[in-house]
Amino acid sequence: MERLTDWAALWRELVECRARGLGGDDSRNNQDDPWAGKAREFSERVKRRWSGPDSSRQFVSSHVEPGTTVLDIGAGTGAWSILLARKAARVTAVDASPAMASVMHENLAAEGITNVDFVAGLWPEVSVEPHDYSLCAHAMYGSPDLPAFVEAMMRATRRTCFLMFRSPVRGGIMAEAAQHVWGQPQDSPNFMIGYNVLLQMGLTPNVLMESGPMGSGGLWDAKTSAGMDEALVRTKRHFGLMDSAEYDAYFLDLLGRRLKRRDGLYVWERDMRSALVYWDVT
Ligand SMILES: C[S@@+](CC[C@H](N)C(=O)[O-])C[C@H]1O[C@@H](n2cnc3c(N)ncnc32)[C@H](O)[C@@H]1O
Repeated sequence: MERLTDWAALWRELVECRARGLGGDDSRNNQDDPWAGKAREFSERVKRRWSGPDSSRQFVSSHVEPGTTVLDIGAGTGAWSILLARKAARVTAVDASPAMASVMHENLAAEGITNVDFVAGLWPEVSVEPHDYSLCAHAMYGSPDLPAFVEAMMRATRRTCFLMFRSPVRGGIMAEAAQHVWGQPQDSPNFMIGYNVLLQMGLTPNVLMESGPMGSGGLWDAKTSAGMDEALVRTKRHFGLMDSAEYDAYFLDLLGRRLKRRDGLYVWERDMRSALVYWDVT
């Protein structure tokens, strides 16, 4: 009989792998603030992605009742805080990155939003009063202890917790590489691992898979690499193998098979969507 997977341990292992300076696009090239020099670009990317409707935003926004309070953990450049501040009485935005916070304040001012309070710091180290709702969108991938992260979130929530995870499609490029390098297909902290952590904590969360506009399947835009060298570096960094050439030949073969050439660029497959997980705190 197979042994039961310890999902919290797998989450921790993948977070720690990323924290060693790995993590592909999330790579920590500035130890003090990993988002320094990248916050404005991130904000523009979110604005582009949010230019059309999506089911998660629609769902969370319709769930939040007027006159209530919302806690936005890892608020980044403030997209969710701004959206929910239009419905709630007050929003508390928590973030550890001064660069992201600075762009968030610009965005709040540009939108004329005055009911968002900002708390600088790392969740779950910061302490906040309980709020009616709490949300954490793609801001838990650097936290090794997901159960502690979620327990603190629940202590700060009176009604409903919302968590947005990235959910890779089955058989994506990074999954194939993870299977080869690590013997299992999970290449980074994601929905499948996070959801199983929540189940192992005894929670019974609901899931809404992002569907996106008609025909898109809710998949995020394709990433591109300028050349094969850049694609190889991205892959090696993702697996923490910048100092090793052990898998270079395998990675080059994989990338050669699976990346497409378009307009002089190497185009990655669209292999990621968001999954919204939510549950009532009782
Ligand atoms: C990928 S961005 C997501 C931002 C925003 N939630 C969104 O969906 O647009 C991740 C943000 O979470 C913040 N973050 C990551 N881990 C955090 C933690 N443990 N406590 C506070 N902020 C955190 C980062 O500084 C960054 O601003």
